[in-house]
Amino acid sequence: MIDLKVNIDKLEGFVSKESIYSFEQQLLLHQGSLLNKTGKGNDFLGWITLPDEIDEAMLASLEKDAQDIAAQADIYVVIGIGGSYLGARAVIEALQHNFAGLQGKSGRKAPLVVYAGNNISEDYLADLIDILDERDYALTVISKSGTTTEPAIAFRILRRHLEQKYGLEEARKRIIAITDGSKGALKKLANKEGYKTYIVPDDVGGRYSVLTPVGLLPIAVAGFDIREFVKGALAMKHLVTSARTIDENPAFKYAAARNALYAAGKPIEIMVNYQPSLIYITEWWKQLYGESEGKQNRGIFPAGVSFTTDLHSMGQYVQEGLRVIFETVLSIEKPKRELSVPLEADDADGLNFVSGRRIHEVNRQAELGTLLAHVDGNVPNMVISLPRVDENTLGQLLYFYEFGCALSGYILDVNPFDQPGVEAYKKNMFALLGKPGFEEQTAILRSRI
Ligand code: PA5
Repeated sequence: MIDLKVNIDKLEGFVSKESIYSFEQQLLLHQGSLLNKTGKGNDFLGWITLPDEIDEAMLASLEKDAQDIAAQADIYVVIGIGGSYLGARAVIEALQHNFAGLQGKSGRKAPLVVYAGNNISEDYLADLIDILDERDYALTVISKSGTTTEPAIAFRILRRHLEQKYGLEEARKRIIAITDGSKGALKKLANKEGYKTYIVPDDVGGRYSVLTPVGLLPIAVAGFDIREFVKGALAMKHLVTSARTIDENPAFKYAAARNALYAAGKPIEIMVNYQPSLIYITEWWKQLYGESEGKQNRGIFPAGVSFTTDLHSMGQYVQEGLRVIFETVLSIEKPKRELSVPLEADDADGLNFVSGRRIHEVNRQAELGTLLAHVDGNVPNMVISLPRVDENTLGQLLYFYEFGCALSGYILDVNPFDQPGVEAYKKNMFALLGKPGFEEQTAILRSRI
């Protein structure tokens, strides 16, 4: 059962229906190229069939590891960057208690997941070590290449910390590595040390890997139902790979609408949420779309806001700034919890007119009011809606975004599965750090600083 819907009614007046539907034939061809593996980047299409391929043995193994980690650890550190951590974090933060970090052991059913290796901040790592000194923990290091600087540095430090804290033998039992099947430094080290490993398939890129152990293991450790998550993704896969029209296929509709807006002079898409727990869904989406489309001097710039919080900051720009943006609202029909506005005898803040009403109703009216205000301010809006946030609907949502991204990248005529641009900073950083082999570049760069 598919719950996700895409509503493009409020694009009227910004782009014509014809311009959106004119993409339909192209989308059919691109859907075919993805399924037949004949388009750009066709050696990285393994993500398409992941929901069909995750078998009982894999799910059982992930669940068993999650149980073992929960028995050993109060804190679970996920080391990874980009596609090697954002998918897991997006799902975990969407599902967990908003204040999971402040809940004690008894309030949480599973270890608290924390993240490392997604920055090079000395303070961040040192502060993390303060916490890990005091608490039982286990870690999973995720790096397909095994050579990415940020997670490699974090793993060097935390592996040593773990070994000093628990001794070599016990430390080995607390480390799981998720990496390439055969090559790479991490694979070599994992083999040498005897760490449990999971494989990232060769034909699945980092930002499309949430349905591999890269996403599934941390989600399971955090105590969530990975079977339902995969089920939701599978249902969405059936729909977006088979439906052949914009009206029937939400990924077609989303890809067509955003490309029609782009062609009409709107190169910036702002993903809007009204729940702080969805901020990392936006972060994951930003990586997926930014890395997939931003190349060859084209691509829609993916930005994000969390309303109503950001209505008190970015809201001004959205309402009256440069008219080059469109918004996509991720709308959730029903919250997980229930809370109403209380009645106050003196009504000092004048809010008694909403007393007794659910907080969500207030949020919902803020959402609808903002949408109309932004449309009136010449910001086209579309809405992706889900009835609720749970494992199943998140599986649907993430697969929908992935397929929509692949289609949209093909419309833009780029390879949505590579990321040649991310090498530039790495080369400069290595040269400035004086890495052997970069001598010539080192001198040139230093002379420019
Ligand atoms: O989407 C991608 O491919 C990237 O974001 C990578 O996931 C990220 O750079 C981390 O790479 P690796 O898993 O090799 O450490």
